[in-house]
Amino acid sequence: MALENKREIYDFAGKVRTVNIAKGNFRFAPVMYLETALQHIDGMPQSTYDEIIEKYVEMNAAHPFREGNGRSTRIWLDLILKKELKLVVDWNRVDKADYLLAMERSPVKDVEIKVLLKNALTDQIYDREVYMKGIDASYYYEGYNTFKSEDL
Ligand SMILES: Nc1ncnc2c1ncn2[C@@H]1O[C@H](COP(=O)(O)OP(=O)(O)O)[C@@H](O)[C@H]1O
Ligand SMILES: [Mg+2]
Repeated sequence: MALENKREIYDFAGKVRTVNIAKGNFRFAPVMYLETALQHIDGMPQSTYDEIIEKYVEMNAAHPFREGNGRSTRIWLDLILKKELKLVVDWNRVDKADYLLAMERSPVKDVEIKVLLKNALTDQIYDREVYMKGIDASYYYEGYNTFKSEDL
């Protein structure tokens, strides 16, 4: 029925997941500990660049949603960077393969993701093109190429 209605978002959209998930060899926070993990992350400091990336790495390890964590967490990261440092990541300057490798590595060591994103920071926080093309890049990392925001 849901398919017949051609619904374009999942039933679980916006809800904290109720299933365990993994990517590669990494198991994200078990459902049993997810609420606790999210409360802990909420309380993590975010006043310096390093603290913000450490918080981002923890949120990725929590992976609160069943799907869409990569894209939503990158938006969340930019909102924090913008609020605290008046900076955002220009995702078009972050290579896909480098980014995914750094994220895969991040639960063990966060130095790679810290360096990678630091090199792509911009103070153009109200630039529509940086924002929209950043969303395109974010989809591209996850294997989506169907639309470009400028064509919509
Ligand atoms: N092996 C890994 N270990 C930890 N994090 C990973 C790994 N592979 C990918 N990631 C992170 O997970 C994100 C993808 O999560 P996912 O829920 O599928 O989000 P989306 O639907 O936006 O693709 C990637 O963007 C990356 O940040
Ligand atoms: Mg995905």
